[in-house]
Amino acid sequence: MTETVGILGLGAYAPERVMTNADWAELVDTSDEWITTRTGIKERRFAAADETSADMAVSAAHRVLDDAGLDATDIDEIILATDTPEMYAPDTAAFVQYQLGAREIPAFDLAGSGCAGFLMALDVARTRAQLGRKRVLVLAVELISRLMNWNDRDTCVLFGDAAGGAVVGPGEDVIGMLGAAAGTDGSKAGILCLEAGGTRVPFSAEVAAAGLHQKVVMHGREVFREAVRRMSQVTHELLEQAGKSLSDIALVVPHQANMRILEAVGKRLGLAPERVFSNIREYGNTGSASVPLALCHARAQGRIAAGDLVLLTSFGAGFHWAGLLLEF
Ligand code: ACO
Repeated sequence: MTETVGILGLGAYAPERVMTNADWAELVDTSDEWITTRTGIKERRFAAADETSADMAVSAAHRVLDDAGLDATDIDEIILATDTPEMYAPDTAAFVQYQLGAREIPAFDLAGSGCAGFLMALDVARTRAQLGRKRVLVLAVELISRLMNWNDRDTCVLFGDAAGGAVVGPGEDVIGMLGAAAGTDGSKAGILCLEAGGTRVPFSAEVAAAGLHQKVVMHGREVFREAVRRMSQVTHELLEQAGKSLSDIALVVPHQANMRILEAVGKRLGLAPERVFSNIREYGNTGSASVPLALCHARAQGRIAAGDLVLLTSFGAGFHWAGLLLEF
């Protein structure tokens, strides 16, 4: 059997603390009914007070390595996607390299690509592995609860914390990576963003007093429309690239933005609801971690059989969108 570059292992981690819609209703003017009907979310997980982004990423990394039957010292590169880093500088990947006990390998963040970050990083890892970097550990982590505005009901109820990942490398029995597609429309950057803290609006006493450093700007309806359009578009691009049709796909695992977005993507693609995986009810929107978390849950629930084609699709701030076609 010849070796091909593919996914050698998968893993995900969600913190133990459960935050329900009823818990939110005690803190902001909202209700279980509003959140459920608009988003499909019932609960989400929040990190413990002493847990950081790197800690969560390392917890996920251990599961990825266990699944692949590898040690941390077998890894040749780490790429980490996040919008909620350990520090402004250095990046989270540096902390993960040390905490995981990896060798002195290249480790870097793919920061700010929003919910599309994991799939973009996975595609980078695929080409790096093909070029001889061998085993690349790809992680996505979001600890959104630590950085968001807990008083902003428009956004706070949507998010949860999680981490997930995959190791990409050559092997005889890999999850095949049949194709990847991605795109960016930077003209829409202001529609979904965290404005303050960078060079455009530096952090200051005024910014802090106004809470701008925690203010997620989100034009919900436009995000909704674009998410549906772009996740559907990238699905078609991937199918065309791979010479496949939707009937060949056993399961679509999209970014878990919102249940209504997932339903609209399924409808636009003409897929029965059971062919679009969702765990948003229990985990909310976990940003870049949502695709690996959902993929691990789909596999654990027996929704993916050997030989199945599984299509991953995501969309996030930027706007960035990305997709990947896997063969299990
Ligand atoms: N509880 C109660 N009321 C709320 C809440 C809340 N948590 N949040 C907002 N509202 C109010 C608003 O203030 C507004 O009130 P108003 O009409 O008096 O001004 C009203 O609800 C808006 O209601 P709708 O118009 O029915 O809201 P809509 O159907 O647009 O749903 C939502 C809002 C859920 C944000 C929707 O636009 C959406 O899903 N957009 C996509 C955004 C998304 O998924 N973001 C995730 C991050 S980005 C990503 O992952 C790609």
